[in-house]
Amino acid sequence: MSRYDWMEEEWERLKSVSLARSIRSVDAVIGEEGTWIRVSGKSLLNLSSNNYLGLAHDPRLKAAAVRGIEEWGAGATASRFVLGSHGLYEQLEQRLAEWKGREAALVFANGYQANTGVISALVGRGDAVFSDRLNHASIVDGIVLSRAEHCRYRHNDMEHLEYLLKRHQGARRKLIVTDTVFSMDGDLAPLADLVELKRRYGALLMVDEAHAGGVLGRSGEGLCHELGLSREVDIIMGTFSKAFGSYGAYVCGATSVVRYLTSKARSLIYSTALPPSVLASIHAALTIVQEEGERRKRLRELGSRFRGMLRERGFSVAEGRTPIIPLVLGESGVALQYSRMLEERGIAAVAIRPPTVPAGTARIRFTVMATHTTTELEWAADQLQQIRAELQWEGR
Ligand SMILES: Cc1ncc(COP(=O)(O)O)c(C=O)c1O
Repeated sequence: MSRYDWMEEEWERLKSVSLARSIRSVDAVIGEEGTWIRVSGKSLLNLSSNNYLGLAHDPRLKAAAVRGIEEWGAGATASRFVLGSHGLYEQLEQRLAEWKGREAALVFANGYQANTGVISALVGRGDAVFSDRLNHASIVDGIVLSRAEHCRYRHNDMEHLEYLLKRHQGARRKLIVTDTVFSMDGDLAPLADLVELKRRYGALLMVDEAHAGGVLGRSGEGLCHELGLSREVDIIMGTFSKAFGSYGAYVCGATSVVRYLTSKARSLIYSTALPPSVLASIHAALTIVQEEGERRKRLRELGSRFRGMLRERGFSVAEGRTPIIPLVLGESGVALQYSRMLEERGIAAVAIRPPTVPAGTARIRFTVMATHTTTELEWAADQLQQIRAELQWEGR
């Protein structure tokens, strides 16, 4: 008997239902486009990255990171509340507020900390949070941490949301929270309806633009901006870890909101500030996101081309205009098998399983990047078709 037996048992159980997780090692990323990686000596086409605009290996981001280190050092060494924060932070927050057309912005270490810190600062016991069932895990964890009542509404179902808002009219504070682009499905939240409901029921509205930043909106601002609703949303959160190719996150909104969060968000107060290299690379990425609209255009085109290629080969994929293209396969074992066979054929495409997605909806989550070529995507679609034939998997 070992005191770790229960962990071994649970791990064996997870393995038996295809839910054990492991982390594979990557030898290298090949080239500046970020579209190919090398794993165990083999080159794989990367169809699983959130590096939508292909910026993570852009020489301008790398050079900015080096300059950040040279000027400010390798680490921040403490929370911003201990040693203050240098110019890179303040300039970034000003640029973000301007870009988003809001009064103020606040940078967090990452999206997970932004969501957990903001939600747990805004609501507590006696309050109610209305959250889409498919929201990101960091939102769920923020709600759990806050101790407010967690009211989950069916995905994008505004009738269900209204029903829950009515039932919790008596809550001290009400917060509606949603992803704008859902991370595992790539579909969009019905933002205009959410704004209408938040007004009608006196709730605050918080949105997570992690997968919309850099991708939607004229200058990559996100869905709120694209729909002309950014001033109607109380808290807009976004990350720099996806289309920006860097790391970190932010929230923006009215000065009162940002000032309040600066004093109350524990994940901000009790955690070391971002390294200068990261902040400097975010600055470089923001400039590219704002100025190189053709990357966004190409991303949109490639997304719809790849959807079309999959449909032409008889796969059922939903319409959409984001780079996230899920191929829902059902059972975790099937999704894992597809993922393994894709890898054997030279494609990295990750299987997404519960609890990340609801039971019975395990999938391959394909993501395209602005730096892919149509030839690469065509080749990937052919491989998928051959795998299906090999597995004699009918009807997909
Ligand atoms: C919708 C959403 N919100 C928040 C996060 C967390 O962001 P980060 O990876 O910066 O912690 C992610 C990504 O993992 C996400 O997909």
